Amino acid sequence: MEELVSLCKRRGFIYQTNELYGGMQGVYDYGPLGVELKNNLKQAWWSSMVYERDDVEGLDSSILTHPNVLKYSGHEDTFTDPLVDCKDCKSRWRADHIDDNKCPSCGSENLTNPRPFNLMFKTTIGPVEDDSSFAYLRPETAQQIFTNFKNVVDSTSRTLPFGIAQIGKAFRNEITPRNFIFRVREFEQMELEFFVEPGSDEEWHQKWVAERVKWWERQGVNKNNLEIIDVDQEELSHYSKKTVDIMYKFPHGLEELEGIANRTDFDIGSHTKNQKDFEIKSVVMKNDDSVTKLAIQNKINNSWTIPYVIEPSAGVDRGFLAVLNEAYKIEQLENGKERTVLSLKSHLSPIKAAVIPLKRNNQDLVDRSIELKSQLQSIGLGRVALDNAGNIGKSYRRHDEIGTPMCITIDFETLDDNSVTVRDRDTMEQKRIKLDEISNFFVKNL
Ligand code: GAP
Repeated sequence: MEELVSLCKRRGFIYQTNELYGGMQGVYDYGPLGVELKNNLKQAWWSSMVYERDDVEGLDSSILTHPNVLKYSGHEDTFTDPLVDCKDCKSRWRADHIDDNKCPSCGSENLTNPRPFNLMFKTTIGPVEDDSSFAYLRPETAQQIFTNFKNVVDSTSRTLPFGIAQIGKAFRNEITPRNFIFRVREFEQMELEFFVEPGSDEEWHQKWVAERVKWWERQGVNKNNLEIIDVDQEELSHYSKKTVDIMYKFPHGLEELEGIANRTDFDIGSHTKNQKDFEIKSVVMKNDDSVTKLAIQNKINNSWTIPYVIEPSAGVDRGFLAVLNEAYKIEQLENGKERTVLSLKSHLSPIKAAVIPLKRNNQDLVDRSIELKSQLQSIGLGRVALDNAGNIGKSYRRHDEIGTPMCITIDFETLDDNSVTVRDRDTMEQKRIKLDEISNFFVKNL
């Protein structure tokens, strides 16, 4: 993990937030390359969930959340972790992170009994800070999908089965944020709420588990580093009938990358008005506050159904860490030296190609490089960088380390014969390509 953390800082993937004031635990910033990789990962998810399917709509809802949403969702009562204090060194721990009843920091057994600690962040809306003005920062993006269920159904005329996808920030006041960006207090989720007819839920659940494993493989995650586990009954969230976790062998151990839950009719049943009009199978809190009927009409027999929900929910930051970990390699070279290379799938690479003039102070080479950079950039496959550092060896090493799939060098031969050298990141092979073929080559090889 230390090597990844160091690469992330050195090359501008991830920085500790507000480091100049001592930082904040469990909060990170994504730097110039990090934001590109993160956006590419989110775009790959969005494409596969929304664009490549015809049964999913997108949404981008607010982070500030009405307290009633998180009251009826059950989060106010149950979204807690058991907290233990060490009376000697004053450190705080999640009870399930304590072994042999000893403080992990100082070894003392002088610990408090576990007590529930609610993980939701609160803030106030407007100038007056009182009990009537508070709102939550959403602890999952899912709830705002449920509260928009009727809006989306009305504006798209969807029938079951269909889904609503959303990517966005979520906030949890984790007791012990740790392992770099694995467990943080501010993070992003990629969540799909897929609404199905009651009775077809188990079949859809299995389909989504298979679909999601394949997607992670397409992001470069080796299947051997994934484990699919059924979450034990006693560990299920309050809304779940069954949850399957996709676990990944992170540098610090096997941990959850994504959860796929069968949330039954709990959420839509919790937020609808007139609950008594429906046969809600889950145990929900009586809701006298909602003003909207959240049900969907069967267009054939006109009956109203509260749908079941299958939810694949993945963490963007955990996904980022997984694809980075998969791609990171140190290779021994024939000349006895070694190189660091990030063999990212090219659709995830922060920079798709680097155009490098062989000499930084030769205006002809620089002009041709600027021209080629604009030509490739206009294709629209992501960032193409002009690298005018002036030392070709150093440029190659830097681009290997940040995962740029190809480097294109403009040299003196280019001025004579309109050809360029293209170097492949993974094989380090170099070949000459004519400038009028380079756009096709770029598109074909990304
Ligand atoms: N809506 C369901 C839900 O939020 P979850 O298992 O609590 O379920 C889903 O979270 C995913 O969000 C996890 O699989 C993980 O990837 C990510 N996640 C959860 N808490 C996180 C945290 N503190 N830091 C980073 N990622 C987190």
